[in-house]
Amino acid sequence: MNKRYLMAPGPVAVAPEVLAKMSEPIIHHRSPQFSAILTKVREDLKYLYQTKNDCLILASSGTGGMEASVVNLLSPGDKALVIRGGKFGERWDELCHTYGVKAVNIDVTWGKAVDPQEVKKVLDANPDARAVFVQAHETSTGVKHPVEELGKLIREKPATVLVVDAISALGVYELKTDDWGLDVVITGSQKSLSLPPGLAFVSVSEKAWKLVEKAQLPKYYFNFLKEKKAIEKQTTAFTPAVSLIIGLAEVLRGIRATGLPALFAHHRRLSEGTKAGVTGMGLEFFSTVPSEAITVIKAPEGIDGQNVVKILRDEYGITIAGGQAQAKGKIFRISHMGYLNEWDMIVALAAVERALNQLGYPIELGKGVAAAEAYFAQNK
Ligand SMILES: Cc1ncc(COP(=O)(O)O)c(C=O)c1O
Repeated sequence: MNKRYLMAPGPVAVAPEVLAKMSEPIIHHRSPQFSAILTKVREDLKYLYQTKNDCLILASSGTGGMEASVVNLLSPGDKALVIRGGKFGERWDELCHTYGVKAVNIDVTWGKAVDPQEVKKVLDANPDARAVFVQAHETSTGVKHPVEELGKLIREKPATVLVVDAISALGVYELKTDDWGLDVVITGSQKSLSLPPGLAFVSVSEKAWKLVEKAQLPKYYFNFLKEKKAIEKQTTAFTPAVSLIIGLAEVLRGIRATGLPALFAHHRRLSEGTKAGVTGMGLEFFSTVPSEAITVIKAPEGIDGQNVVKILRDEYGITIAGGQAQAKGKIFRISHMGYLNEWDMIVALAAVERALNQLGYPIELGKGVAAAEAYFAQNK
């Protein structure tokens, strides 16, 4: 039997009841029926985001939300600070470069978090920076950047906004958009929302809307002002991804019913249980600031991490993720996002133990599993 498990940090496994909702007949997007769904979804998104501001819904992957933020906030020749500590931090720099924005990069060693004092220093030296671009959680390294501290710093700067890629953070752990002063927060459907890929979400603060009104970078489809007008009419600027939004309505209904604290506790528990298993196996972590979204494991001496990922995928039917760019071969990553529970984590750990043995790295089978089981049994 070829049973498959999806435990990569996006796309993630989707619950059967959500898949069933999305397979219902398509309804027209300019109908009272759809407007009612959209209005409810927009309210529930504010709950998820912990914001009073509107959250725009775009039909794109998460990168579309990042690109939309750049073109809607900035003008040609503007300056922006970029925290670059992984593949997705690099993406901010690439986007700035694409649109003629002068990026001042703050390079952070992969696996480490940015030091807010360093950001303060660079910000003080560049008072004309219009935006600071950062990841709440850098998925390529499993590091959480201190966005709450950055929010405090940037709140003091009337001409600068903080733009947070929270694609693998929002809905995973606490992220208080308004209280922490996060001006623009981006997420996507295929991570903690446990939906298929295809939707990006962007919240925009009052401070950020002031920049949007002045921004001169070219844009057509990703136009925040058009989206804002559409929200006032309970619709969208362009044809929305109807089925995904219907699935989203179901997911958000569930999140409101359980509440954010329970959602965060779920991810924390899967993460801590998995990390207990990894420690039990005698393996090490790549990130110095471990996240609840994923567990990033250093490939042991002499083992190519890509081979672990390959054996799991091709021989066991289990998809986890390897390292990207400079981390390729050095790490492998297990997701805690998506339709997963503790038993899935046990499966992942058992598979890692087996694969490492197959590759000639001796780990006593069941050691990691036992440690994880003990954690899960004691932390219900
Ligand atoms: C932190 C982060 N930013 C950006 C992206 C890119 O999102 P997408 O692949 O949906 O465009 C990802 C995807 O893994 C991510 O984890």
